[in-house]
Amino acid sequence: MNAEVDVMRHRDAVEFADGVFWIGALDPHLRSFDIILRSANGTSYNAYLVRGSTGAAIIDTVKERFSEEFFARLESEVDYRDIKAIVLNHLEPDHTGALPELMQRAPQAKLYISQRATSMLKALLKPSAGDFAYTTVNTGARVSLGDRTLRFLHTPFLHWPDTQCTYLEEAGVLFSGDVFGCHFCDKRLFNDCVGDFRFSFDYYYAHIMRPFKSHVMDALQMIEPLQLRQIAPAHGPILRERPRRYVTRYRELSTSNLADRLGNEERSLVIFYMSAYGNTARMAEEIAQGAGGVAGVRVSLYDLEGGEIDSFVDLIEEADALLFGSPTINGDAVKPVWDLLSSLAVVDLKGKLGGAFGSYGWSGEAVRMIEDRMRGLKLQIPQAGLRIKLIPTQDELEACRSYGRDVAAALSGDTDANRIIDFADLN
Ligand code: FEO
Repeated sequence: MNAEVDVMRHRDAVEFADGVFWIGALDPHLRSFDIILRSANGTSYNAYLVRGSTGAAIIDTVKERFSEEFFARLESEVDYRDIKAIVLNHLEPDHTGALPELMQRAPQAKLYISQRATSMLKALLKPSAGDFAYTTVNTGARVSLGDRTLRFLHTPFLHWPDTQCTYLEEAGVLFSGDVFGCHFCDKRLFNDCVGDFRFSFDYYYAHIMRPFKSHVMDALQMIEPLQLRQIAPAHGPILRERPRRYVTRYRELSTSNLADRLGNEERSLVIFYMSAYGNTARMAEEIAQGAGGVAGVRVSLYDLEGGEIDSFVDLIEEADALLFGSPTINGDAVKPVWDLLSSLAVVDLKGKLGGAFGSYGWSGEAVRMIEDRMRGLKLQIPQAGLRIKLIPTQDELEACRSYGRDVAAALSGDTDANRIIDFADLN
């Protein structure tokens, strides 16, 4: 198990189960993937070959720039004429770069993709490929290679609509695409040989899979009952030692524990604010007080000046409602508010409530701008934003408490409080 394979020097296929080979490529110098993801030691583009008694299957390919390495490994083990099937678990270019050339070299091979991959395949192969045939497959569909059987699992949105996994029944190997992958490059290839990649595994989940947690849970329902001897993802180490612990980790990362802390009936309202002269802070405190009086709603109040983005994103993911308070400075909300709002692409915000408030001196655009951003993120805004010019009066502080009560009541399901009151118009 600990034998080191020097795949940097030798471009041979690497067998890791009977008749099952890694034929991918290593990209150790990559430091930034798709612009947004970072890697401290590169990544791998994992592609696989399965040999059966009546033909071979290729599962995924590599980024175009690494095609030569991919074809060298493939040719070390199989003749193009013996390739019966090409399976694409996901059509992003890092896995389909060598596809057009592979289709030319093995024109008899049938292409298997998910239904949702059809339009992407057509876009990918235009205009050079001419006519090409493909078969769409769904969960439970099988392809026989004689003594080997590939079974498909439709796992959409992990992390594109087209994604699927492919299970080799006789060997218990799950070819999982991006699922259970990570941007981690190590020529030792296998999880029991490579360096410690736990941080990379969790980081990849947080940036790629986290926005699709409900889809992850659906996929786990299909994956968990499988007899799993190895998991072969499209990036990072092949998980041959205790593969099930990575499945368990996905379930942990996809499961909210807030209900355990608050109880199933209690809802969470989080208020973030920044304040230049203490006026928006005062508003935030009064809003929190008003909201805190509504049964079944737990209110949290945070000054953005004293916190870190990552931990706030975690809080937001589990919250049921978010309020942002910002003064208006130079016609805009302040930067820490935008920093946090621009970090929410990794979180599923569907169904959450939102709102904005703030003190202002001249124009007060911040509240409307924050609301617009929240609508763009698909948050529902049950109460129009609350703006107060400079220092709040006693009446305006009461308006803050009322605003907090109304948002909390909307959260707790008190429909009488769902009326829209635009306090900003009172200014
Ligand atoms: Fe590794 Fe989503 O491509």
